[in-house]
Amino acid sequence: MFYVIIIWVTIMGNGIDLIKINRFEKYVNNIKFLKSIFNENEINYIEKTNYSLNTIAGLYAAKEAFLKAIKKGINHHIMLDIEISHDSNNAPFIILHNSLKDKYKKISLSISHDGEYAIAMVVLF
Ligand SMILES: CC(C)(COP(=O)(O)OP(=O)(O)OC[C@H]1O[C@@H](n2cnc3c(N)ncnc32)[C@H](O)[C@@H]1OP(=O)(O)O)[C@@H](O)C(=O)NCCC(=O)NCCS
Repeated sequence: MFYVIIIWVTIMGNGIDLIKINRFEKYVNNIKFLKSIFNENEINYIEKTNYSLNTIAGLYAAKEAFLKAIKKGINHHIMLDIEISHDSNNAPFIILHNSLKDKYKKISLSISHDGEYAIAMVVLF
């Protein structure tokens, strides 16, 4: 006997962001700038990569992709409310704080970087 299971998934939003990695060259040693975009956990992650520009650009692109998915513009307060964390396999995921907390049920994030560019994509379910 066959059973057919239908899973209905509604996509509530999506966002993508492509960033030229060298945009961050002038900011990499500027801890004030980094702290205005990234929280302590994210800065610890960046430190572990030895301040990799690829990683910084990827994290930044992830935040912008999320903002596109929720159709909001960039401001520094909101950037700190979007935390990019990593699981035990190093796969990135989003934790929301303050005004964004508990607003979105399921968020999928993917980041990639190669050559001159970093890219991130967010899908909201
Ligand atoms: C996932 C994987 C294929 C990515 O390959 P890659 O071509 O080097 O990745 P890209 O350069 O396109 O993207 C890098 C980004 O992918 C993301 N990423 C890393 N590991 C990931 C994973 N397991 N799943 C999803 N995304 C991952 C990160 O955001 C990373 O950025 P960062 O290094 O700046 O944090 C590769 O890292 C891999 O095979 N990892 C296996 C890790 C694993 O399972 N480890 C188990 C024990 S720790």
